[in-house]
Amino acid sequence: MKLKDFRTFFNKELSNLYPKTEIDAFFFRTIEHTLNLQLTDVFTKQDLLITDDNMTVLKSVIERLKKEEPIQYILGETEFYGYTFKVNSDVLIPRPETEELVSWVKETVEHKKTKLSILDIGTGSGCIAISIQKELPTTKVTAFDISEKALETAKKNAELNKVNVNFIHHDILSNTTINDKFDVIISNPPYVRELEKDEIKNNVLNNEPHLALFVDDNNPLLFYKRIADIALTNLNENGVLFFEINQYLGKETKQMLLDKGFKNVVLKSDLFGNHRMIKANF
Ligand SMILES: C[S@@+](CC[C@H](N)C(=O)[O-])C[C@H]1O[C@@H](n2cnc3c(N)ncnc32)[C@H](O)[C@@H]1O
Repeated sequence: MKLKDFRTFFNKELSNLYPKTEIDAFFFRTIEHTLNLQLTDVFTKQDLLITDDNMTVLKSVIERLKKEEPIQYILGETEFYGYTFKVNSDVLIPRPETEELVSWVKETVEHKKTKLSILDIGTGSGCIAISIQKELPTTKVTAFDISEKALETAKKNAELNKVNVNFIHHDILSNTTINDKFDVIISNPPYVRELEKDEIKNNVLNNEPHLALFVDDNNPLLFYKRIADIALTNLNENGVLFFEINQYLGKETKQMLLDKGFKNVVLKSDLFGNHRMIKANF
């Protein structure tokens, strides 16, 4: 089949399920990944003949998209902060709002002259830890996750991006003492309440790890409180704590940090005015 005919076929197969703009985005990503083409090739190489082997792969992408699997899992990779990350159903797909968290950390600490020690709690694909290590190469980055499988993927991502991160299997809710001290602690922990499940799209709900997403309605700040306590013990003087937060719980998260004695607590909103992240000094 020619590339231009495949585009028509791709659109037709998915048009009942997704809006046109999303189908176009899937098409470009799929073609780029599977046929190793650039975006411009889609327009300049319309008569390119797709081999039977490639057609088999491309048709299986369509079938998986029909089952509402995220394109990132189907292709096995995604971009985060300009770097490539392998992803699979063991790890959350890194989100653009988390890129903003990385930018905020970078802006806040890059002027510091000393070699900083940074801890990322709940690292998943390793997206935060690895991007920080890439952007601030003199830092020493440690990353925890409770999921052994997520850590396997994170380690592959560190190799792929040629950085050293100290990945550690650690349950943050356990009482195991953490001996090291850090200048910065960052976390994007699970924060979606069960009551918010209705707002979550099927492709997320049915594919992404629930361990990475959900918390009990009765204790939605569970991870935040625990990590704040760890920060009180394990942050160095002038250390900074950063969280990505539940947009509905900005005020509560801020109050919790103030109650624990944190200073300079700053909430940050996204373009739509939703509270998305918070930082605090200790
Ligand atoms: C919202 S995901 C964030 C993943 C990644 N940091 C990102 O921003 O895309 C939360 C992560 O916390 C991990 N996690 C859940 N419970 C944990 C626990 N008790 N201790 C450590 N990590 C935990 C999950 O496995 C998951 O990787």
